[in-house]
Amino acid sequence: MDLMNKSIVSEFVLLGLSGTWTLQIFYFLIFFMLYGATVVGNLLIMVTVTFSSHLHSPMYFLLGNLSFFDMCLSTVTTPKMIADLLRKQRTISLWGCVTQMFFMHLFGGAEMTLLIAMAFDRYVAICKPLHYTSIMSRRLLYGFVLFSWIIGFIHTMSQIVLTVNLPFCGPNVVDNLFCDLPLVIKLACKDTYILELFVIADSGLLSLICFILLLVSYTVILVTVHNHSSGGLSKALSTLSAHITVVTLFFGPCIFIYAWPFSNFSGTKILSVFYTVITPLLNPIIYTLRNQEMKVAMKKLRIQRISSR
Ligand SMILES: *[C@@H]1O[C@H](CO)[C@@H](O)[C@H](O)[C@H]1NC(C)=O
Repeated sequence: MDLMNKSIVSEFVLLGLSGTWTLQIFYFLIFFMLYGATVVGNLLIMVTVTFSSHLHSPMYFLLGNLSFFDMCLSTVTTPKMIADLLRKQRTISLWGCVTQMFFMHLFGGAEMTLLIAMAFDRYVAICKPLHYTSIMSRRLLYGFVLFSWIIGFIHTMSQIVLTVNLPFCGPNVVDNLFCDLPLVIKLACKDTYILELFVIADSGLLSLICFILLLVSYTVILVTVHNHSSGGLSKALSTLSAHITVVTLFFGPCIFIYAWPFSNFSGTKILSVFYTVITPLLNPIIYTLRNQEMKVAMKKLRIQRISSR
């Protein structure tokens, strides 16, 4: 039986952030600037990595793709969220909602996988420097990117297929700024206990395991460096601290939202804003403002462009 036919809800109401009209305008300006900076910053990384001959190393190849995922992840939810701040009626169609959840988990899952690939890249670079170029071949890099897309796709499909088959017949208010699985599933007029457990396993546990895996790999790197050279530790620490910051800020909110998704935790909305608006902006900030190589490459590109006019 196709349960979709039983749905009588055709759109959801997004509550968004509460507050006076002035406050809404304030949020609008803040989110608008953050989103603008996210798009510009990540595009800048992608362009610089693609056109600088100095940055054709595996790390920057992966970083360019990470920026792409970040930009997409933010674009899935933020523009609608910003437009909604100026609207009285904040609705989203059933299919709009499903589309948001599909792409959010596609890019989220892909980004998590790519972060693990980036940790592996740092492991090889720091712990096996002599074999770095032979291990991190072009083929492996393309493989990593393809693999990220595949994992993202499997991750999102497994959850969306089960969600679109739910009957939605009654309440349609989503207390968030965009549609997200835990909140939407709760609105189904059917017992969704098993599905809720599945989402916890698929999204929550996945982020938790990825996070632990990443922390372990960084620890292994640091211990290896510590045991093998005396001066290398601070250099490794400075490279890795950027990665660790990104990873913590990305996974922290995800683990909170998906591993305990069905409790009524009031901070969920803020955490949602965090990983869709703030985290995608962190890569450009961390990798361009703190990275000398990147800054030099950007400057060179600008000079090249000016002199070729
Ligand atoms: C991302 O990966 C693809 C290959 O899968 C590659 O062609 C592209 O150059 C990468 N993007 C950046 C910005 O490095």
